[in-house]
Amino acid sequence: MSYDAVELIRMKRDGDRLGDEAIEWLIRHYTDGDVTAEQMSAMAMAIFFRGLDLQELSTWTNAMIATGERMDFSSLSRPTVDKHSTGGVGDKITLPLAPLVAACGAAVPQLSGRGLGHTGGTLDKLEAIPGWRADLTNAEMLRQLEEVGAVICAAGSGLAPADKKLYALRDVTGTVESIPMISASIMSKKIAEGTAALVLDVKTGAGAFMKSYDESVALARTMVGLGQAAGVNTVALVTDMNTPLGRSAGNGVEVAESIEVLAGGGPSDVVELTLALAREMLACAGIDADPERALASGRAMDTWRAMIAAQGGDPDAPLPTARHTEVVAAEADGVIAGMDAMAVGLAAWRLGAGRAKQGDPVQAAAGVTWNASIGDRVAKGQPLFTLHTDTPERIDRAREALVDAVDYADQPLERGALVLARIDQP
Ligand code: URA
Repeated sequence: MSYDAVELIRMKRDGDRLGDEAIEWLIRHYTDGDVTAEQMSAMAMAIFFRGLDLQELSTWTNAMIATGERMDFSSLSRPTVDKHSTGGVGDKITLPLAPLVAACGAAVPQLSGRGLGHTGGTLDKLEAIPGWRADLTNAEMLRQLEEVGAVICAAGSGLAPADKKLYALRDVTGTVESIPMISASIMSKKIAEGTAALVLDVKTGAGAFMKSYDESVALARTMVGLGQAAGVNTVALVTDMNTPLGRSAGNGVEVAESIEVLAGGGPSDVVELTLALAREMLACAGIDADPERALASGRAMDTWRAMIAAQGGDPDAPLPTARHTEVVAAEADGVIAGMDAMAVGLAAWRLGAGRAKQGDPVQAAAGVTWNASIGDRVAKGQPLFTLHTDTPERIDRAREALVDAVDYADQPLERGALVLARIDQP
């Protein structure tokens, strides 16, 4: 059956629902190039305002999966479980988490992306390790999953190609922040990837896609519904992203912090979230193991080293250091009551840790580190942030991003809860 793209756009614009065959036609013909970028932009904007109901969303997601390959991990001797974060500042959790869960007996296939905008990409961080490579063949990936248990690599272009094209279009048409389109985008890739279980880390707050708690819970429920309907054992944690995670945002600086966590140290919030997600992943995979013990015993570190070496990286090589560093001092006396995740992410991006458009290079050593966080007392003028970059002309703009990024209080206070909700039903 053939459809008229303009007629489908009008229907969605006017609030009518789209039938299954119409959605399948639209996605297929957009991927092939018969439906134009202009038409799909208009459709994305219509969906942004009108939404998709559950049947439309399920068909949309399946139609995107059907444009590419589906991976198959059924030959592995270990149960597969993956994690996906909707993205936040300083969110390096995948780095310690994947080897930790693998050290407990699971296979963790982490197909990751490069960063765009203020949230960094996992692959950009790992590429700070000398020799490490992100591109693996499916056969290499399967072998590493069987032998090491964890792989973090680039998602091949064969996985949900419709999403790749549509995500790039949404990025330049102001249509990213749509619950149905984010859900379909993330879940089409995860379902096509073939993991048996999935834990979602849905970020909420100033540094996240979804700024409000209610919207973040709605996004989590929608994705859990899509995963479960596809037979993937899916659970979501909604976690705070008002404050950046840990004490670093950037590429190599986040790898260094992840290694501290694997060595038994590291910032307490990074350790807490890594363990919370590890427990959920192991429960979803049906593995009865204590991740805290795997971390303390060094088994997770052993798996990290094996994972990095298997992809050509040298786990003993020093991480790159920036040619220029500059200190930003605390602006007032007091207890740190808030640190604006968006401002810190923007500063790291301006220093060269992120890219303005797809394909731009990133600096391995660029980023921001800080030595105090929520609840810590600081004195005016005391060093608070350190800016790292190879290009000193970027420093002024990064400094500007950090003006008023920190709130100070007179009284002692504690950081609020990191895990705000657990969602296991649509
Ligand atoms: N990440 C994705 O993969 N897709 C979105 O739409 C948003 C975040």
